[in-house]
Amino acid sequence: MKFFVDTAEIKDIRDLHETGLLDGVTTNPSLIAKSGRDFKEVIKEICDIVPGPVSAEVAATDYEGMVAEGRLLAKIADNVVVKVPLTIDGLKATKTFSKEGIKINVTLCFSPNQALLAAKVGATYISPFIGRLDDINLEGMQLIRDIRQIYDNYDFSTEILAASIRSANHVTEAALAGADVATIPPAVIYKLADHPLTKSGLEQFVKDWKATGQSIL
Ligand code: E4P
Repeated sequence: MKFFVDTAEIKDIRDLHETGLLDGVTTNPSLIAKSGRDFKEVIKEICDIVPGPVSAEVAATDYEGMVAEGRLLAKIADNVVVKVPLTIDGLKATKTFSKEGIKINVTLCFSPNQALLAAKVGATYISPFIGRLDDINLEGMQLIRDIRQIYDNYDFSTEILAASIRSANHVTEAALAGADVATIPPAVIYKLADHPLTKSGLEQFVKDWKATGQSIL
């Protein structure tokens, strides 16, 4: 499973890129607002750090506006993926972008039927929002399983990008459900490496090694 980081914070992206764990980045208007940065500038900076796909979301909600904004965003760098909302206008824009060879991430997906539509118009990625479904007492992860089944039934090449991930358990479950990608907040990526037995085991090894009085170098 590929790992994207869900943030527009340059320092977090740079640090994670250095770990070798990062395959791409997703942003959204809320994350851009949180960063306090100029949208196009920050997308360019992210694309210079991470060679993988970087999602940049259109602000328009009508077809013509989305197409105009998406074409402009796609020119920022070769690895920009234009993000559009899952509406009829967004799907129409997806079809246009896919004919033009522009990569598209269809976002705000909350049902299997929405995911089916996105695949039919040639979305590169579909973003089902797990955490937001859990927030309203629905089982977010079931959506990933359903989309996996539908895409496999028809050999759709659209990649399932598990989004709105809130915990390390979400990452495990998304991987078990066959998501192609998970976009994860930085803090959750670091948590994936944590285990109390790793921590205590390492403490013991460090202590025992010191007692030998030896040095490897
Ligand atoms: C995905 O692309 C979205 O930016 C993101 O995962 C939304 O997560 P949230 O529901 O925690 O805001």
